[in-house]
Amino acid sequence: MNIETVKTFQSLKTPFYYYDTALLRATLQSATQEANRHGFHLHYAVKANANPRILEIIQDYGIGADCVSGNEVARAVEYGFHPDRIVYAGVGKSDDEIRLALGKDIFCFNCESLPEIEVINTLAGELGKKASIALRVNPNVDAHTHHYITTGIEENKFGFYLYDLEHAIAVCRELENIRLIGLHFHIGSQITDLTVFRGLCLRVNEIQARLKEQGIILPHVNFGGGLGINYDCPSCGLIPDFASYFQTFADFFEAQPGQQLHFELGRSLVGQCGSLVSRVLYVKEGKHKKFVILDAGMNDLLRPALYQAFHRIENLTSIQPYEKYDIVGPICESSDCFGKDRELPATRRGDLIAIRSCGAYGEVMASRYNLRDLPGSFFPE
Ligand code: LLP
Repeated sequence: MNIETVKTFQSLKTPFYYYDTALLRATLQSATQEANRHGFHLHYAVKANANPRILEIIQDYGIGADCVSGNEVARAVEYGFHPDRIVYAGVGKSDDEIRLALGKDIFCFNCESLPEIEVINTLAGELGKKASIALRVNPNVDAHTHHYITTGIEENKFGFYLYDLEHAIAVCRELENIRLIGLHFHIGSQITDLTVFRGLCLRVNEIQARLKEQGIILPHVNFGGGLGINYDCPSCGLIPDFASYFQTFADFFEAQPGQQLHFELGRSLVGQCGSLVSRVLYVKEGKHKKFVILDAGMNDLLRPALYQAFHRIENLTSIQPYEKYDIVGPICESSDCFGKDRELPATRRGDLIAIRSCGAYGEVMASRYNLRDLPGSFFPE
């Protein structure tokens, strides 16, 4: 972060999310270029960050939206995403949410159960529409990521099980107001080992071969999201390796003639461009350690408390000498801790602290716990 930016921060009310829009644009440029190289369709997983300014920038790259609630569908449309590039997933879509999405004529509902599909069929009939749907399939592939963000193994609530698939397809074909157009997969998030995606491709190949034997070929396959980012090594590059990610699907997935591939990336598009900027309220000397107490808490950034997630922490206004601190927030919980035994330059009251790589699942997961204000956001342009 350059000196001018830090000077600007001095005058702002903390805590706030700072978004490096130049980095966001460079990331989007790389992702779209690599997806386009293979003719793949890219959707942005709005759940990662629904800040209006972020959405406006992303839609400008011709990317579609992946939504998980009626409000996300409405917001995506409001900030420029074209409905015919919007997909809508989620195990618990309410009737009102389904009506809203039908009313906007979105591209596809990613469906997770037969009762849900029957409701979509009924509501579509009432509105005189035909809903395009894809079946979310639980491929039973382990993403080897944090337990809470693994979604593609059989103990998870997501998707149709493999043994149910043909039955589900047969039911869909009977429903008058449903058009079955594809299969959808999403096995988890923060996946940094590309061989996991290779495994997903091989599993989907098997599934397609099985369906093909029965004469079933669907025009769309959606591989979900999940590409991870580097949280701990800034010098390893802030733009994820989209080239290798998409190449994995080009190399290992056996697409049927004319079949269109879709991806729903969240974290890898927005994760690195965001930082949570906060002020030091107090430095407290404990018996065995020193605590830096920030004016940001777990209500502003939940990931460390919820997943023991690691985020780099930097002091923007002090240089040296380095000391070890626990960096904590003001919330009435011991889990309100952003980092233990972190080396920071000598830190004082009033210093500005940046918690890095918070662009994804940061601001969107903020809450008003302890009746605190929601964090603000700051964009350099
Ligand atoms: N598609 C579906 C169906 C999803 O459930 C998700 C994320 C994505 C796409 C986007 O995945 P991504 O590319 O961002 O990995 N709050 C957690 C992450 C939860 C992810 C939920 N689903 C965290 O802070 O790590």
